[in-house]
Amino acid sequence: MNTVSINIPATKNPTYSVLIGEGVLKELPTVIANLGLFDSVALLYDEAVQGLAEKLDIEIMIPIKSGESSKTMSEAERITSELLARGINRQSLLICLGGGMVTDLGGFVASSYMRGIGHINIPTTVLGMVDASVGGKTGVDIGAAKNIVGHFHHPRSVIVDTDTLSTLPKEQFCEGLVEIIKIAAIMDKEFFEELESNIEDIILRDRPTLTSCIQRAIQLKAVSVEEDEKDTGKRLLLNFGHTVGHALEVLLKFTLSHGKAVSIGMACEMQLTDSEDADRVIRLLERIDMPTKLPQQYSAREILEAMKHDKKAISSSLRFAAPKRIGEGTVMELDTNSFELQFS
Ligand code: GLY
Repeated sequence: MNTVSINIPATKNPTYSVLIGEGVLKELPTVIANLGLFDSVALLYDEAVQGLAEKLDIEIMIPIKSGESSKTMSEAERITSELLARGINRQSLLICLGGGMVTDLGGFVASSYMRGIGHINIPTTVLGMVDASVGGKTGVDIGAAKNIVGHFHHPRSVIVDTDTLSTLPKEQFCEGLVEIIKIAAIMDKEFFEELESNIEDIILRDRPTLTSCIQRAIQLKAVSVEEDEKDTGKRLLLNFGHTVGHALEVLLKFTLSHGKAVSIGMACEMQLTDSEDADRVIRLLERIDMPTKLPQQYSAREILEAMKHDKKAISSSLRFAAPKRIGEGTVMELDTNSFELQFS
């Protein structure tokens, strides 16, 4: 078992641990005991992991329907009412078991319930492990506006048990690998090279290789979150692929998965940097069977419009993050003319 510690000094509980390894879920009772005394514990879980949820032996169990469509205010209200009815109070603990949808929604409920209670994240997807469950971003969607309501509310602990990935469908597994390739490409050349060498073993879920690459990705995410908790500097680099990717998700009304949208976004954004490393990133994405080309049915102008619409809420300029060279991510202004020229 390995541990990554995350330090956010200005918060109420400044340090939390991410336990990583095969079978580490059995440590849950110890993790809870080490956090202190809780009046009660409630488990929020994705119905897709019902079997795993039952094994945790927690009396108060609240299932959530699978899929991003559950990440809503009305679902947060339903869960809140349920917690209230089951006697959950300020000294209680909420456990969130599932992918990014559950940890985003559950973290949001934990951040708001009685002005904030503690929660533990137990991600069961690659995407959840390396991105959503770590770093304190919580939120729900309003229509196409993803994560538009939410708080920074860090979990008290995160348990990353790579055994839980054995039943994850291959496509969903590879969609999560996109975020690992992303973080290596922007922050760590050596890690990127290791991914290039080991990607077949990772796809085959060779447990030690997979566990070590998930751990490395979490360590890198921890560095960016510790340096820039509130997303105004280094953490923005984690948006590599997301400026184009999010516009595609919106245009396609979320019928394209987040991982695939980000994969296409990374390929496009790399090409905009004129980096000689663009081909390496694209090749690695292709080796995990992820798409790297913009969907034919939209013109470059339509995609640009979707990006502008999305960004209007937060900024007047269109920016994106990408590595000029592998391991060296930067945030850049998007040149809309060259985007149109390149992708028409
Ligand atoms: N998902 C990107 C971040 O946590 O900042």
